[in-house]
Amino acid sequence: MGKIDPTSPVPKYFQLRGILLDLIEDAELPVDAPIPSERELCQRFGLSRMTVRQAVDHLVTEGRLYRVPGKGTFVARPKIEMPLRLVSFTEDMRARGLEPGARDLDHRTTNANVTLARVFDIPVGTGVHVIERLRTADGEPMAVERSQIPATVAPDLLDIPLGDVSLYDVLEKRFGVVFDAGEQTIEAGLADSADARLLDLPRGSAVLLLQRRSFMNGKCVELAVSTYRADRYQLRGALEIPRRGRPAPRQ
Ligand code: GLP
Repeated sequence: MGKIDPTSPVPKYFQLRGILLDLIEDAELPVDAPIPSERELCQRFGLSRMTVRQAVDHLVTEGRLYRVPGKGTFVARPKIEMPLRLVSFTEDMRARGLEPGARDLDHRTTNANVTLARVFDIPVGTGVHVIERLRTADGEPMAVERSQIPATVAPDLLDIPLGDVSLYDVLEKRFGVVFDAGEQTIEAGLADSADARLLDLPRGSAVLLLQRRSFMNGKCVELAVSTYRADRYQLRGALEIPRRGRPAPRQ
């Protein structure tokens, strides 16, 4: 096990954070295992209570540990990496060995307003299906997804039960929709009371707000606005090396 180096310029709480993270990553402290008490950590590493608390608080904020009042502090489950690919929720969960689920919250057909008409390149007032679903993984709520699809693309989509099925699968098999491009924005947000209740989170918890546009033959066919749990998801992307041009000559 690592040691605190009193001569290091790295703050002691941050060194302890690293030691605890190593224990978690090496599975010496598995998921849901209690970490040693503050008193034990103070004794083992020769640190003050304040320093130990600072390290533990840091890991709680990072989502690596969670506290249960009156019981202690435990190792949290690792977060799921959000795919930056045009995959369906179902495919993504299955690839991780989790059972995908979808609870139909609401579905209706509305008339395209100016924004939707522009996004889908359809006349204002044309029918657009709106499908709201709670997505689950092994029964645990993960996201609220609101998909909008022009009715002309999938006319009787709403006659099909959309609970616990893959929307992309239905679109492909019933309506011949195969997406060939997509784009997505992801931003930080706070869960409003409706989403917080559905996602089983305290109101105002951090969430990730996604907007996806999926295309077929150059036309947008799905606009999805979703709220994902920030305590269960993280983002990872490859970093491209920028092409470095020659430095501009000095004036
Ligand atoms: C992802 C996307 C949604 C899309 C959904 C389809 O979660 N963020 O925009 O609607 O996949 O998933 P499925 O085919 O499992 O219903």
